[in-house]
Amino acid sequence: NPAPVTTIATLGQHEGQTITLRGWLYNLRSSGKLLFPTFRDGSGTIQGIVPKAAVAEEVFETLKNLTLESSVVVTGKVRADSRAPSGFELDVENVTVTQRIADETPYPISLKEHGVDFLMEHRHLWLRTPRQSAILRVRATIMRAAAEYFDTNGFIRTDPPILTPNACEGTSELFEMDYFDDDKAYLTQSGQLYIEATALALGKVYSFGPTFRAEKSKTRRHLTEFWMIEPEVTYLDLDGLMGLAEGFLTHIVTRVLETHRADLKVIGKEVSKLEAVAAPGEFPRLSYDEAHQMLVEAHAKGLIENAHTYGDDFGSPDETYISNQFDKPVMVHRYPAEVKAFYMQPDPNDPTKALCVDVLAPEGYGEIIGGSQRVDSYDLLKSRIEQHNLPLAAFQWYLDLRKYGSVPHSGFGMGIERAVAWICGLEHVRETIPFARTLNRIYP
Ligand code: 4AD
Ligand code: MG
Repeated sequence: NPAPVTTIATLGQHEGQTITLRGWLYNLRSSGKLLFPTFRDGSGTIQGIVPKAAVAEEVFETLKNLTLESSVVVTGKVRADSRAPSGFELDVENVTVTQRIADETPYPISLKEHGVDFLMEHRHLWLRTPRQSAILRVRATIMRAAAEYFDTNGFIRTDPPILTPNACEGTSELFEMDYFDDDKAYLTQSGQLYIEATALALGKVYSFGPTFRAEKSKTRRHLTEFWMIEPEVTYLDLDGLMGLAEGFLTHIVTRVLETHRADLKVIGKEVSKLEAVAAPGEFPRLSYDEAHQMLVEAHAKGLIENAHTYGDDFGSPDETYISNQFDKPVMVHRYPAEVKAFYMQPDPNDPTKALCVDVLAPEGYGEIIGGSQRVDSYDLLKSRIEQHNLPLAAFQWYLDLRKYGSVPHSGFGMGIERAVAWICGLEHVRETIPFARTLNRIYP
């Protein structure tokens, strides 16, 4: 009877049994006649115990001289141990080496601290460390839960093109390329304009795919390629949109808490902060004016360094201060139309304001969602396109949506990487995606 192959994450079902793991040697400590190899297999890590007297000589010698990150198939007996991080240890019985890393070319990432540049240069290997693997597992759940929320609430997924003839979010951040003989194409910044069209066809839709921005800014929050999920709904107003964002974020955090407590521990995220978000209760809603007032008072008390100028967008320290006043994500609505996109519907009570919302994540993670009600009048949209010096011809199809059966409609976009950074508590978005694309890096 060969020992059944299993994974480290499911060892709890095999206590007392002899099983086989297929993985890599993550770490190795030894004290004379005792070896403590740590194995990882993509689902977790486990410490093995190898007393010289308990195994064949060959097994002991193989392990003792094994290089880190060599690939191995290990057989051993699962023993519960309350001191072990995973709750178990493995009494190793046998080891087969799949590939031994040569002594002359040791694995580049040792267990000591490395600088970020070095790690990013070796991202293809850095992904193997327990923390990075845990982040990617949480990311996968966030993506699944995000799509699941819309799939189970009557939304139809409609994927917009990635090659587009025009800008959605301002022309300065476009990646441009030749499109055959005389044409130019741009990598999409957002699927929004296209899903406005599919929303008018289908009612409730969403898109989910990579988006691109030639961001010249080097910040902890900006990537040049990131994944965005965007719902768009007909006959939905700004209030309804905020309700949608609230239900959506609550669902995602709930799902992460259901299945990733161990991963969050490896990553070092305080789970109580997420529990507060998932707990019953509404997300606070603040108008731009109220948020501005809050910043004015904070500045007067010396709690923030720079005074916020009325009419300006919020800077990152401003957003951090606002979000720190609450346990839940904050929905800031009705920004001055001037600082926002051309397609946003003006507030009928004050047309200098846009019917828009930015959702600020807790703990200073900044804007994770941006959305709005859309201009639904043909004439207003046309004049906005002209005011913003956008090429009318390229937007003719978009204007058609206001000519043929226009309706009020709203939508938002959430950047997956911003959400992962917040939920995992990461310093920088570069760790939230397998291979980050930034101003300075396109390798590996
Ligand atoms: O606020 P943004 O620019 O909104 C839009 O693109 C709308 N067209 C979405 C819509 O209404 N359908 O971007 C939406 C979100 C941001 O809140 C942020 O989470 C993320 O996309 N995002 C970025 N994430 C990483 N790197 C960047 N450079 C990002 N730019 C935006
Ligand atoms: Mg925005």
